Amino acid sequence: AGPLARDAARTQAAPGLTLAQRPRRNRKAEWSRRLVRETVLTVDDLIWPLFLIEGERRREPVASMPGVERLSVDEAVREAERAAALKIPAISFFPYVDPTLRDETGSEALNRNNLVCRAVRAVKAAVPEIGVITDVALDPYTSHGHDGLLDDTVIVNDATVALLVEQSLVQAEAGTDVIAPSDMMDGRVGAIRAGLDKAGFRDVQIMAYAAKYASAFYGPFRDAIGTSATLKGDKRTYQMDPGNSEEALREVALDLEEGADSVMVKPGLPYLDIIRRVKDGFGVPTFAYQVSGEYAMIAAAAQNGWLDGERAMIESLMAFKRAGADGVFTYFALQVAERLRAG
Ligand code: PBG
Repeated sequence: AGPLARDAARTQAAPGLTLAQRPRRNRKAEWSRRLVRETVLTVDDLIWPLFLIEGERRREPVASMPGVERLSVDEAVREAERAAALKIPAISFFPYVDPTLRDETGSEALNRNNLVCRAVRAVKAAVPEIGVITDVALDPYTSHGHDGLLDDTVIVNDATVALLVEQSLVQAEAGTDVIAPSDMMDGRVGAIRAGLDKAGFRDVQIMAYAAKYASAFYGPFRDAIGTSATLKGDKRTYQMDPGNSEEALREVALDLEEGADSVMVKPGLPYLDIIRRVKDGFGVPTFAYQVSGEYAMIAAAAQNGWLDGERAMIESLMAFKRAGADGVFTYFALQVAERLRAG
């Protein structure tokens, strides 16, 4: 007991406050805090994004994302095996496309043997039980770094959608489980759904990046896939304005009407209010993306000893669950799964 307890007159006999409710009673011990906890983070909530690069036995650190590496396909298979052993439900792929393969129209996106397709085939062959999610957008493949076709200064919507349908079919043929369009073109979900169905891929899911904002938090990701230096201008004519939330609901409604199986909000922590509104408004599987900049902030501060990285990681992911997310894309996924297993 502390010094106050020794002064029995003050702590025991003194009347103190008469309170019917003392919320602290439920917090007094770990067993009790566990019993009343409303939100639980489990391994089932995690989706692990991986960066791919050409080569063999190659791992290359991403400078702006301490702890994250670009992986050659064989290394990605090894990581997928580790993820599956930890029961992480799904992984997703983002390629660093060799600059010599990038062009104005992103034609490498339609190569049936591109980096993403090879990774999908290799992982599905080695670890069939893990879900594979592939991003549909042209930015890793275009010389200008935009998600769509660029005509002078304009991103051309409908012609881009036609290419995104082709890209989706190429990925579906490689064996992807989920197509995740991250491009924000109008009408792409419906067009992709129709294209997949026509080609017999009725069971390939669509997870729509429905409310994707034009965000500064994507910076480190663009380093990772090598588009920071090449991106011409910004993405504000297709990604959403950070000031809007009614518009996010309209975007979600449209993607659902067009056939999305689940929707995503991105970035994550700065947009928890959007996750909550989407979940309450639609009641559909709702995912969040803790993006590269969010990861970098926690990882860099932890590296400097400015905060406890493990606790910040768990707390941030718990916040997504509390806001209503069914799952979260996070670069911390493997670390979290290991930590949860350790208990
Ligand atoms: C692009 C895409 C981006 C991310 C996923 N897909 C970045 C962008 O829109 O420029 C961001 C992911 C992250 O920052 O972690 N289609």
